[in-house]
Amino acid sequence: MLAIRSQFSNHFNDSPALVVKSPGRINLIGEHTDYNHGFVLPAAIDKFIEVAIGKRTDGAIHMVALDLGETIILPIDNLRPHATQWVNYIIGVVDQVFNRMKVTNDNFISRVNILANVENNLSGNEIKLAAGFNICIQGNIPLGAGLSSSAALECAVLFAINELYQLSLTKMEMALMAQTAEHKFAGVQCGPMDMFASLHGQKNKAILLDCDSLAFTYYPIELKDYSIVLFDTQIKHALATSEYNTRRLECEQGLKIIQEKYGSVKTFRDVSLEQVEECLGSIIHLINHNVEDKNILDSRIKVYQRCKYVVEEIERVQLAVQDLAKGDMQAFGKKMFQTHEGLSKLYEVSCPELDFLVNEVTPNKNVLGARMMGGGFGGCTINIIKKTAVEEITKELSAKYYQAMHKELTIYSTSIEEGTHLVL
Ligand code: GLA
Repeated sequence: MLAIRSQFSNHFNDSPALVVKSPGRINLIGEHTDYNHGFVLPAAIDKFIEVAIGKRTDGAIHMVALDLGETIILPIDNLRPHATQWVNYIIGVVDQVFNRMKVTNDNFISRVNILANVENNLSGNEIKLAAGFNICIQGNIPLGAGLSSSAALECAVLFAINELYQLSLTKMEMALMAQTAEHKFAGVQCGPMDMFASLHGQKNKAILLDCDSLAFTYYPIELKDYSIVLFDTQIKHALATSEYNTRRLECEQGLKIIQEKYGSVKTFRDVSLEQVEECLGSIIHLINHNVEDKNILDSRIKVYQRCKYVVEEIERVQLAVQDLAKGDMQAFGKKMFQTHEGLSKLYEVSCPELDFLVNEVTPNKNVLGARMMGGGFGGCTINIIKKTAVEEITKELSAKYYQAMHKELTIYSTSIEEGTHLVL
């Protein structure tokens, strides 16, 4: 495929003002903890989305998805969720920029007025955004594989707009804006991890993000004889979004019950396993004996399991980074297996294909750790495998996966790379 600059020129008969590259992410450990005020340990990878952008003057956004061969044109005024999902990742962040202006700019009245202001040549770089832009996007992040292609696109667009209009947004501000865009325009009540990782990535470093304070620390990843390999189930369950949002609600429900007893508890960070057992676990036994309504019991068991997993995982990540600091990758890998067990049995966001891939590699001494990664219900497993054994393991696993699931296994060897940046 032609380089994105040439593609842009072909489409718009003009050179792009700038090009931005934004990576997908892996997450070593800390799953479904970001929206529960826990810790995550993601890293940006060598798969990315690239955008080329240039200004317009007519108040329209012209969007070209090169890989899909689709073009969508929308007025920049009055943006609302669109039927085409990739469009939402673009207009969602544009909407966030306008919302921010609404809060910060006393003169803000409406986008239409802003557009008029542009015509009158009034000052304000943000205001010029209302005059619209052209954008081309392309990338090599497999869609639906749990590698956060959507976050990469949101971050690429926001980073490009930030540069183009000199909005002076920090990377963390952009991460949070992209997260809100995902809530409002894509309908996924996600945490901040994916956008954070895409924007803040550094070569060969994982980032421990405290999702409560948003403080973060870089950890060098020196795997020496080992490498990170992703096995893609090629499954994308339709349930992923609705179940994801349900997990979030179940956790909120559990936390509320704990808070009724322990007033000082603000988030899951303040919750102990004993409190989970006491407030959520023991009640189940009472219900078990006294209430016949199976639905109530089932939902209480689920709330208990979800909260138990979250509290265990928050603790596990903190221990795992100690392993990392000591260079004890064996211990780190064991925790990855434990995380998978929790995600599969307690949090119930795995699927037979993911479980199959993890179970198959578990007894193999050359696999330090393996688990499902990301939101779940499909996507990839992340594995730490001895370099010399990767070829044999992937060959064997592909054959077994095909036999068991009648699907081709896709394998990605990944490296950890720099976060969102300008391409000069
Ligand atoms: C998805 C979400 C993230 C995070 C993970 C699970 O990737 O976008 O915010 O919750 O699932 O850890």
